[in-house]
Amino acid sequence: MSDRYLGFANSNLGRRLVDALGLPRPVPLERWQAGRLRPVEGALVLGGGPLAKQVEAFAARLTGECYRFDDDTLASPAWVAGLGPKLKALVFDASHLSDSDQLKQLREFFQPLLRSLAPCAHIVILGRPPESLDDPQALVAQRALEGFSRSLGKELRNGATANLLYVGSDGEDQLEGALRFFLSPKSAFVCGQVLRLGHCTAHVEDWTRPLAGRRALVTGAARGIGAAIAETLARDGAQVTLLDVPQAQKDLDALAERLGGRALALDICAADAATQLVESLPEGLDIVVHNAGITRDKTLANLTPEYWDAVLAVNLKAPQVLTQALFEAGKLHDGARITLLASVSGIAGNRGQANYAASKAGLIGFAQAWAPKLAEHGASINAIAPGFIETHMTAAMPIGLREAGRRLSSLGQGGLPQDVAEAIAWLSQPGSGTVNGQVLRVCGQALMGA
Ligand SMILES: NC(=O)c1ccc[n+]([C@@H]2O[C@H](COP(=O)([O-])OP(=O)(O)OC[C@H]3O[C@@H](n4cnc5c(N)ncnc54)[C@H](O)[C@@H]3O)[C@@H](O)[C@H]2O)c1
Repeated sequence: MSDRYLGFANSNLGRRLVDALGLPRPVPLERWQAGRLRPVEGALVLGGGPLAKQVEAFAARLTGECYRFDDDTLASPAWVAGLGPKLKALVFDASHLSDSDQLKQLREFFQPLLRSLAPCAHIVILGRPPESLDDPQALVAQRALEGFSRSLGKELRNGATANLLYVGSDGEDQLEGALRFFLSPKSAFVCGQVLRLGHCTAHVEDWTRPLAGRRALVTGAARGIGAAIAETLARDGAQVTLLDVPQAQKDLDALAERLGGRALALDICAADAATQLVESLPEGLDIVVHNAGITRDKTLANLTPEYWDAVLAVNLKAPQVLTQALFEAGKLHDGARITLLASVSGIAGNRGQANYAASKAGLIGFAQAWAPKLAEHGASINAIAPGFIETHMTAAMPIGLREAGRRLSSLGQGGLPQDVAEAIAWLSQPGSGTVNGQVLRVCGQALMGA
């Protein structure tokens, strides 16, 4: 469903009216277009501690224009306030900040640059995982970065985003893959997030087809977010199996044919679903996306046992049963990447969604519980928590709730299925085992549960 306010607020008349009334003016977000080569089209400024030098070493693969700010250890030309070009991306390495006095370096770096941001710019702050530090003062300083980066995300305008990566000493060689996502339009709807990068020995060989040669399964792939995930994984080179209920066979077949993939009509809650799935995948899998999900909303006082059972069965039980079966049958290759579709509702709770929120919070627990076991096989499992995404599911919401869902976020609009799909495509890359057992919200920094 189209967002009429977004269109109006960016028309000639609408812009004047909205500005005069002091209403929020969300801007159309820039998205990744197939065939684009560089993650950053425009100027990137680097600064801060030692990781900035590491980023500089591969910066030419990110952008054609790299500058340093107030950091003589870097070789790039200096960016000068008032003279330099508008900025499409900023990376500040805050990993060296080891006490609270040093935190002022954040203000000193960002303040001169913020007025020179181009539309839809992307900011990444790098730090060290606080829990990995022995020095209490350093831990405090690194923990402070969360509050800073989330506030920065809320202050940014014009579709810009800010995110924080805590880079473990064993996660440094995966920085390029993470920055290719967080500095590019692939992360258009990801803001105010905090992720940890840890050990992973696998690497992407060809950045134009990072999933080449990988076999993927996407459940609930006939429409909405699942269809976008299948398209995006196929764009990045994966061979996709698209699964959905038998009633969706026609749409499923059409999409599978277009993507050169395979259709598998199967109800994931059927008694023999696990056996059927295992038998239909003789070559095993490198990527599994548990996307199929349903809602049966009622306040708890009115929630029937049928509504409770249906939601828990599709959203939470089936992903566990199927993952266990695939694992036991040896169908998950070493280095497999599993993504679970959780929801911001599972983090914040939502009136009328006790069943849905329980199922989605349970998926976050599932990722946490399985992460260590999968890491032994070089594999990983994470949850993506979408906020308000423009799909059939959200088009069916009452208008008041729908408008609130769209506007109550830093980016002031709903996301697109592509935004969720891009995050999953990144987490499905060989090098993305650096993220394991974590939750990434794709929610435009929704205020709900923030
Ligand atoms: N749309 C949003 O704003 C939003 C927000 C947060 C989370 N999510 C989650 O993202 C996922 C996709 O959402 P969507 O909006 O695209 O939903 P959707 O209803 O458009 O698509 C869901 C798909 O899952 C399939 N499915 C349902 N039950 C199934 C079963 N038993 N076996 C096999 N397939 C089954 C459906 O046929 C459908 O094709 C869901 O898990 C949803 O909870 C969506």
